[in-house]
Amino acid sequence: MTNNKVLDMYESKPEWSEDDSQYFAEFSQYFVPERELQIQLICDLLSDLPSDAIVVELCCGEGFLSRAILAQYPNYRVIALDGSPTMLEKAASTLTEFGDRAEVGKFEVRAAMWRKFSMPIHGVLSSLAIHHLDTEQKQALFRDITLALAPGGVFVIADLVQPRNEVGVKVAAQQWDNAVRERSLSRRRSLIAFEYFQRSNWNLYSVPNPDPVDKPSPLYDQLNWLEKAEFIDVDVYWMKAGHAIFGGRKSTS
Ligand SMILES: C[S@@+](CC[C@H](N)C(=O)[O-])C[C@H]1O[C@@H](n2cnc3c(N)ncnc32)[C@H](O)[C@@H]1O
Repeated sequence: MTNNKVLDMYESKPEWSEDDSQYFAEFSQYFVPERELQIQLICDLLSDLPSDAIVVELCCGEGFLSRAILAQYPNYRVIALDGSPTMLEKAASTLTEFGDRAEVGKFEVRAAMWRKFSMPIHGVLSSLAIHHLDTEQKQALFRDITLALAPGGVFVIADLVQPRNEVGVKVAAQQWDNAVRERSLSRRRSLIAFEYFQRSNWNLYSVPNPDPVDKPSPLYDQLNWLEKAEFIDVDVYWMKAGHAIFGGRKSTS
């Protein structure tokens, strides 16, 4: 598996703060539209990997997606990486039941060195994190993931994407508000989580000057970058409220 000492050599300076990690951990169950469906869909997209596949999750947060993968595929192993000490501690606790099938490591997603693995990687996933990279960084990441993947390996991204015009931005903003309002009502029987969502300006589609930590790129551009990085079968699997699940596969030839 990966060498944790090597991962730790990178000084992690995410613009994402530890306060963001605490806040997201508290509210993600309300703030992420169709979170359960998204996790299940991403798991299902890994169904034809080798039975002993190694999957890497980038910016794993609390480790819920990694946990779902390990539960669904009893022989897969997961390397779950993140830059936040708060998240790493939570992910380690979430994944502890899987023993050495799960490895949690610290990394800086923008750095290049962690992208070289000593063994073939069959899947790379990321949820709600690649939008922290700028345009060039996303394209470099896509190229490096193609190189890291074994032939036939898959890359699945769940992320915020930038609508291309004002109408699209309004639709995304409204749909996201609606989704969080519904989740707040169904899970808390009150609008309290929705009120936090609004007060914290988490809906970047509804604020005039979103936090510069968020740099979502148009979905169309990202699909093109994946193809340019030589992924095949590039496709979109789900989209709602400015959130999309998309990805591609490395050719076997
Ligand atoms: C919105 S959270 C998403 C967490 C998780 N993937 C999920 O969907 O629940 C963003 C995650 O990206 C991590 N992150 C942000 N910037 C990072 C960076 N530059 N390097 C490493 N991790 C970073 C944060 O620590 C956090 O866990």
